[in-house]
Amino acid sequence: MTDSVAPSAPALVPVKIAGTGSYLPERIMTNHDLEAMVDTSDEWITTRTGIKERRIAAEGEYTSHLATKAAEAALEQAGLNSDDVELIIVATITPDTLTPATACYVQQQLGSLKAVAFDISAACSGFLYALDYAKHTVGAGAFKNALIIGAEKLSAFVDWNDRNTCVLFGDGAGAAVILPSVSGDGKILSSQLGTDGAQAELLNIPCGGSACPITLENANEKTAVLAMQGREVFKHAVNAMKRASIEAIKAAGLTFQDIKLLIPHQANLRIIDAIVERLEIRREDVFINLDKYGNTSAAAVAIALDEAHRSGRINRGDKILLVAFGAGLTWASAVIEW
Ligand code: ACO
Repeated sequence: MTDSVAPSAPALVPVKIAGTGSYLPERIMTNHDLEAMVDTSDEWITTRTGIKERRIAAEGEYTSHLATKAAEAALEQAGLNSDDVELIIVATITPDTLTPATACYVQQQLGSLKAVAFDISAACSGFLYALDYAKHTVGAGAFKNALIIGAEKLSAFVDWNDRNTCVLFGDGAGAAVILPSVSGDGKILSSQLGTDGAQAELLNIPCGGSACPITLENANEKTAVLAMQGREVFKHAVNAMKRASIEAIKAAGLTFQDIKLLIPHQANLRIIDAIVERLEIRREDVFINLDKYGNTSAAAVAIALDEAHRSGRINRGDKILLVAFGAGLTWASAVIEW
């Protein structure tokens, strides 16, 4: 893991989150619905993961559509017009198309015609990777603002016959607007990123890329779907998110007692409980919504941040800790003063 601010780097202007937004598709799929599809039970899913239901995008509703709706809500809250957006980053592992980037479709849908737009692929850590990048590039003055979005249509990349994976994931999007911080109106205090490519095989979508193009021969083999060694991923997730949380707190010059709310990646309640046990943080100071949405990968922390903010669990001056973990393996954390 590296501190994202190198000692020799020129001083950056502090940046803040000026607005958040989220969007969840209308269709709800409950654990009971899944009982009719695979050999599983509400009891197994609830006790092993904490998930009760998830959202599923409609046919014809793509990742970019979810992203655009979340972005519109964030822009409105930030008071920023879509034609003034200078940078759009979409974090996703379920892009509309392999190319162009989903961010290009979002740019078109928002009408943000002068924005530079590209995607980040860092799985569940993607939104925090985008936050870190925006902190540096807006902080350096290269762009006046950034719209960062985590958006996923995981339902399109799940094998609906595989009970090991299909019960875990859902669709959704969350967004935030990053602006330079005027003194006293909140700032990102620290952000940390980490990657361990040696563990890439633990969690991937094996086909659909250049390593394994979809052909007539493999088209029916369910290879363009998420494959995961769940137990191994679980262990790495707990260790990496614990380490990343401690690093981000230290880099911000704070202690866990200063943190009003922890917003962790929403993959599994047992992972969250294991992290809470290992950190000096109270369970009631942890934001959890995975019961409603399942694991929405890059969207999860962004949706949780928006819900925490809009429901009044974050207020001006509060210090919050965000931490995520995902395929790659990747992990990331950030401390924000609201
Ligand atoms: N319903 C019923 N039984 C099931 C189901 C199901 N949906 N899924 C698996 N089982 C069975 C297994 O077949 C196995 O049976 P067996 O003992 O007869 O072989 C048994 O339940 C136990 O399986 P485990 O995999 O050991 O279950 P575990 O307690 O580890 O829970 C889980 C599995 C939920 C996947 C967990 O390992 C986990 O959360 N892992 C981490 C996932 C994660 O954090 N991903 C993060 C990133 S995601 C991203 O980046 C896109």
